Amino acid sequence: MNAPKTPSPAFGLGLRPDHYQDLLAAPGCVDWLEALSDNYLVPGGRPLHFVDRLRIDYPMALHGVAMSLGGTDPLDATYLKSLRALVNRLEPMWVSDHLCWTGVDGVKLHDLLPLPYTEAVITHVTERISRVQDAIGQRMLIENVSSYLSYSIDEMPEWEFLTEVARRADCLLLLDVNNVYVSSVNHQFDPLAYLAAIPTERVRQIHLAGHANRGQYLIDTHDTPVPPAVWDLYRVAAKRFPGVATMIERDDNIPPLATLLEELDIARAIAAEVVV
Ligand SMILES: [Fe+2]
Repeated sequence: MNAPKTPSPAFGLGLRPDHYQDLLAAPGCVDWLEALSDNYLVPGGRPLHFVDRLRIDYPMALHGVAMSLGGTDPLDATYLKSLRALVNRLEPMWVSDHLCWTGVDGVKLHDLLPLPYTEAVITHVTERISRVQDAIGQRMLIENVSSYLSYSIDEMPEWEFLTEVARRADCLLLLDVNNVYVSSVNHQFDPLAYLAAIPTERVRQIHLAGHANRGQYLIDTHDTPVPPAVWDLYRVAAKRFPGVATMIERDDNIPPLATLLEELDIARAIAAEVVV
């Protein structure tokens, strides 16, 4: 199994259509881009036109939401074939999706739902990740999701589940620091214990994002700047995972590119401070 191309330690942004033109006008204004795979699977059209042009100027990662790695419906062979074609076309640094399930019996729930943290689910999801890795021809990154529920059958904490899945599937990790923080508040665990348990050698990418406080719980909205509590946790993550490619993942209420570049400078400054 091929490893993804080695990333350079750098700071990136999620690629959003609002910024296509500005990114093309200022090549190299950010170190790398993360494109949402699911938006570029149809041959032809405006999105593919822009992503092809941007790929000339920027290293890219591919990130998806549709695999339903933990689901019980069969993996979508057509989707994986299209994804492999996109991988061949863009030659991304790596390909990622979430450690979750997104539907059942053909019904797509359009949400990234947490899995029960059990031995049986580890076996189930590990086998599916291995099949995805075979389909795309390289090791993939799996991302921790934020969650608002847990299961009475859980046998271990989330970080143990994530680590064990990665070990058995021999895949890599995309650590979403905001998701760790959101879940730590919602489920009242120590986010530092989570970070301390993650094997450093498997982490290839870090996501930073904002969330909303709904009083009784936090919700992972990705529509605000990164809040102070997430920067604080990133400070710990940047020290534990030095040089890991880090990006801001803004999905809604998209600000001008210049605003996100300024926010990314905060991440650069924190990483420079903690990594001596
Ligand atoms: Fe994320």
